[in-house]
Amino acid sequence: MEIIRSVADMRAWRKQAGKLAFVPTMGNLHEGHLKLVKAAREQADKVVVSIFVNRLQFGQGEDFDAYPRTFESDCEKLRAAGVDALFFPDERELYPRVKQDFNVEPPHIQNELCGAFRPGHFRGVATVVTKLFNIVQPDVACFGKKDYQQLHVIQAMVDDLNSPIAIVPVDTGRADDGLALSSRNGYLSAEERAEAPRLYRNLCAIRDGLLAGSHDYAALEKTARDDLSAAGWVVDYVEVRQADTLEIAHAGEKRLVVLAAARLGKTRLIDNIEVFR
Ligand code: PAJ
Repeated sequence: MEIIRSVADMRAWRKQAGKLAFVPTMGNLHEGHLKLVKAAREQADKVVVSIFVNRLQFGQGEDFDAYPRTFESDCEKLRAAGVDALFFPDERELYPRVKQDFNVEPPHIQNELCGAFRPGHFRGVATVVTKLFNIVQPDVACFGKKDYQQLHVIQAMVDDLNSPIAIVPVDTGRADDGLALSSRNGYLSAEERAEAPRLYRNLCAIRDGLLAGSHDYAALEKTARDDLSAAGWVVDYVEVRQADTLEIAHAGEKRLVVLAAARLGKTRLIDNIEVFR
């Protein structure tokens, strides 16, 4: 596996790579990321993964400094997964003028769901992903459904800007007890880790209610919020939305997604589940 640190070397490598699939990450890789790599390998001749902890998408008081950086073990996992190149730029390489004056501004969805609790987050994501796309110039890029709103923002961005990149969504990788794999799970104490699958259990309960024919989204959401709160979580949101647009779901909607974010101690966990009925 080639380890590429400069934009110039990345562009040079890309020129000889043929059909190229790209998996952008912030590192601290787990089986969820490796599912993306596997999907990428099925899509193209060559696979490139990037690791870059993107300051722009972290808000004040968020975990930018504490975010786990595990370069050596990440490299081992990527080599074992058959990745062809790792793009690992430093901040000077990706932000050559230090400040970033031109940004990619997502539409109103950036202020909803996670965006309501993380102002500027999706703008930071859209901007860095655009920069990475411009450097790597992939034919295909894989994103996890774990970050459903992020996937939506990136797909809409690529559509609106006519980017020549096919976005491939990949199902959420989970632990045996249902907890969605995440780099942030490493922040959980043993006790919190045992409690954490409650988030997914509540999403499943809402899914079961929807599949049983309920159209009272507010009641389903409230039951889940109450269950989490009673167990000591601080709930940011639990919402049933339209799967394709992420707009508010109306009664009778057939393609739904249930999204949730809640804090357990200091750790903010997100998860979601699609419900097609
Ligand atoms: P990161 O959190 O490292 O995630 C990188 C990719 O892995 C994203 O597409 C994410 O949705 C996917 N992923 C994470 N956990 C997953 C799981 N359990 N199952 C399936 N896919 C999973 O998302 C980011 O980094 C950043 O915002 C980034 C897109 C790299 C821009 O900085």
